[in-house]
Amino acid sequence: MERIHITDVAPRDGLQNQQVPVSTDAKLQLIRLLAAAGVQSVEATSFVSPKAVPQMADAGDLVPRLHAALPQLRTSVLVPNLKGLERAHAAGAQEIAVVLSATETMNRKNINMGLEQATEVSAQTLAEARRLGLRTRAYVAVAFDCPFEGPTALTAVQASCARMLEAGAGEIVVADTIGSAAPGQVRQRLGALAGTVPIERLAVHFHDTRGMGVANAWAALQAGVRRFDASAGGIGGCPFAPGAAGNVATEDLVLMAEQSGFATGISLPGLLEAIDFAQDQLQRPLGGRAITWLRRQRDKALASTS
Ligand code: HMG
Ligand code: MG
Repeated sequence: MERIHITDVAPRDGLQNQQVPVSTDAKLQLIRLLAAAGVQSVEATSFVSPKAVPQMADAGDLVPRLHAALPQLRTSVLVPNLKGLERAHAAGAQEIAVVLSATETMNRKNINMGLEQATEVSAQTLAEARRLGLRTRAYVAVAFDCPFEGPTALTAVQASCARMLEAGAGEIVVADTIGSAAPGQVRQRLGALAGTVPIERLAVHFHDTRGMGVANAWAALQAGVRRFDASAGGIGGCPFAPGAAGNVATEDLVLMAEQSGFATGISLPGLLEAIDFAQDQLQRPLGGRAITWLRRQRDKALASTS
């Protein structure tokens, strides 16, 4: 079976916008449960301004504890600038992701820089990360639509991807920040971007606002993409992108991929344990489109063994 690679972004994208405070211990436990379910790669946190995103203020404590507890787990952290990189490196991070939006306004709202400055700062941060020997990813956000400027021009997305590759990004993560894309658009846009980014270095990051996250992931699979971001329980959303719902749920993506003949290495019962834990922490029901069916399967399996 062909393998796909999933990065679970629940600890970062999922927790960055929650009303309920989540302790560092609980974040660590969530990541432990994800790893126990077979998740091999997580985006653990972000080194951003604690004034902008107080939920991620404990990044400097979390990362060393995480590396000590789960040394085999591939762990990435989001950094918006050189200061974030410096903090991440001091905490022992081995992989970083920068976030460049393809439009002027989204960059201003998210990281308080225009497109030109955001491009330069992201490029400098990638170059410095490479010098430090870290693995690198570069998000290209609002790659389909911008909540402030409407449809994003393909040429703008191509230019951002090309610049991030040139600056040394190991992986380009094409992000549907507000979850507005549909599968036909995904196929078309990824087909065009494959001319700029080698397909094996292209990842996709879908939000599920309109219920098309899994369909979009399928379109990406058909376009040859094998690297996916997803979030256990479907939690997530950028606090600076109005209308953004959670990421495509990891359990939905795993179910779709495995049933379609791709291996993920992730156990669905294991993921349910992580989701149950996150649900207790966040004190509200979580889960993607398939969660009711998945829980029913688990209950049936439990009943048959008792
Ligand atoms: P700014 O206010 O313009 O920054 O914020 P500044 O350089 O003028 O500095 C202001 C203060 O912040 C200073 O401290 C700096 O030291 C400090 P003060 O002198 O006032 O005490 N500072 C920092 N502190 C900690 N870590 C840092 C850092 N940088 C500066 N890295 C900044 C600019 C980028 C920092 C701010 O706007 C910020 O942190 N934004 C947060 C952005 C964010 O986290 N967004 C959500 C993640 S992106 C996302 O969700 C999309 C994604 O999922 C993909 C998709 O779905 O599209 C990735
Ligand atoms: Mg996101």
